[in-house]
Amino acid sequence: MPDPTPLILGVESSCDETCAAVIRGRKLLSSEIISSATEQAKYGGVVPEIASRAHTDAVSRVVARALESAHISPQNLDAVAVTYGAGLLGALLVGLSFAKGFCYSLNIPLIGVSHIRGHIAAAYLDCETLKPPYITLLASGGHTALLLSESYSSFRVLGETVDDAAGEAFDKCARVLSLPYPGGPNIEKLALGGTPCIPFPSALTREGGVRFSYSGLKTAVINYCRNSEQNGVKINRADVAASFQKAALDPLIEKAVELALEYGVDTVCAGGGVAANGYLREKLQYMCAKSGLKAVLPQKKYCTDNAAMIAAEGYLQYLQGNFSPLSLNAAAQVPLK
Ligand code: KG4
Ligand code: ZN
Repeated sequence: MPDPTPLILGVESSCDETCAAVIRGRKLLSSEIISSATEQAKYGGVVPEIASRAHTDAVSRVVARALESAHISPQNLDAVAVTYGAGLLGALLVGLSFAKGFCYSLNIPLIGVSHIRGHIAAAYLDCETLKPPYITLLASGGHTALLLSESYSSFRVLGETVDDAAGEAFDKCARVLSLPYPGGPNIEKLALGGTPCIPFPSALTREGGVRFSYSGLKTAVINYCRNSEQNGVKINRADVAASFQKAALDPLIEKAVELALEYGVDTVCAGGGVAANGYLREKLQYMCAKSGLKAVLPQKKYCTDNAAMIAAEGYLQYLQGNFSPLSLNAAAQVPLK
């Protein structure tokens, strides 16, 4: 029988944020981030080599900070959970190698965590009573899907995007509107001053079933902006942002609620960077309440990349005795399932 409240260090370095967190069972003790986003913004996106170098510089500091703010010494740790994929290979290898060194020197188990499972597990951080089954609206820069979590370790994919991820579409539309990186939060800010009056195509495909497409929506936004420019018509950028945001997010929210009712579950969770979006959060909460469902939204800082979610997923794996060998390698792609 494993210790029900192990002390786990979480480490995450899949993109441009170096993160560490400490969790005791389901209780989060600390979560720290050192970001290279400001440096990356100069280049309009994440430059992999800059990310790897920044992780190398930051990883020992961010881990020390997380242990210090949790008032934990490394010797008290029971395991280290670390993102092994998906993400930028060079970036992942920094966190993974660091975690391996920690485990080796302390003689404690390593738990390799899929980044995407981390985003799903973030819902446990702010809701002590959450238990499966529930629906998860997952929307990040790499994935967009609606899932049915049937147990603490298994889920079914009920619907997903057939092309781009929602976050990717936010980032591309931000570029078209000349907004700086990162695109998502800047589109959200701009949309606050606009009305969703432009009829962009919905992200829900017309083929039936729960299938989303973001590439058509992205193209429609690009065409709208280019055609207006060619015809000498000044676009209202805030209206474009608000209309895009609505077309991108409404179908995800509506389908999440519909699926919860169809599968007879009473809770809808959200995860991934796009779940930090204020419009999505408000509308999901409103729609859930209207249907008698509970919406569980992790705090915004636990929707975007962080190590608390990796530690939370690590805890679930620990309970199952799912440990990884020290030969675990990084993976640029990890299948959703
Ligand atoms: O989960 P995440 O931080 O990293 C990945 O695992 O991909 O998600 C990043 C994505 C980016 O595409 C970013 O533009 C989007 O999440 N994002 C947002 C918001 N904050 C981050 N999209 C819409 N509104 C936001 N407030
Ligand atoms: Zn992420």
